[in-house]
Amino acid sequence: MIALLKALHIAALAIWCAGLILLPIVLRVYGARREMATQAGFAEFRWLTHYSYTRVLSPAAVVAVVAGTALIFALEVFDAWLMAKLAVVTGMVLVHVWLGHLIVQAGERRAPFRLSTAAAALVAVVPLIGLVLWLVLAKPDLQPLLALLPEVLTEPRGNAIPARLNPL
Ligand code: HEM
Repeated sequence: MIALLKALHIAALAIWCAGLILLPIVLRVYGARREMATQAGFAEFRWLTHYSYTRVLSPAAVVAVVAGTALIFALEVFDAWLMAKLAVVTGMVLVHVWLGHLIVQAGERRAPFRLSTAAAALVAVVPLIGLVLWLVLAKPDLQPLLALLPEVLTEPRGNAIPARLNPL
């Protein structure tokens, strides 16, 4: 069961990471082509970016996150390196959303689109992927870093939920 979940997790994240690296390149290179000014060239660009994002990248991201979440409970890992990994994965999700925003802009707004910013997505996502892989493969001991956090962030406060936030 765990082997299956891990295989699913790794297969899905390989597709997701490959897409996060390729899509900014496609946006930047295809978006700058002369053919973008023609109906056929624009349709090809729209088709390629829209379908790769909605039919490949986003489903792969969902499968990677769902399988990863299932692994947390199957393996009962709640270590600091995993929390750090999840924080860095949030950055990957933000880049994913930013790419979706660029694709919608390119499809629905009049030119010129600011597709040059897609290069920034690439610069951000490669170190993020590297950092996630290092955290999960090296499983570093982050206790010394946690010890540097102020006590207010590491101790339960024991306060009651304020009445206005209590749904019951
Ligand atoms: C919300 C998203 C994610 C969750 C909840 C998650 C959770 C997990 C968990 C619990 C494991 C098992 C760790 C262990 O063997 O002790 C794992 C394995 C792994 N994860 Fe993730 N993960 C997520 C996203 C990612 C991403 C984005 C990457 C790559 C960029 C990644 C790369 C890996 C790799 C390579 C392994 C196998 C490690 C090994 O077997 O030693 N994960 N993940």
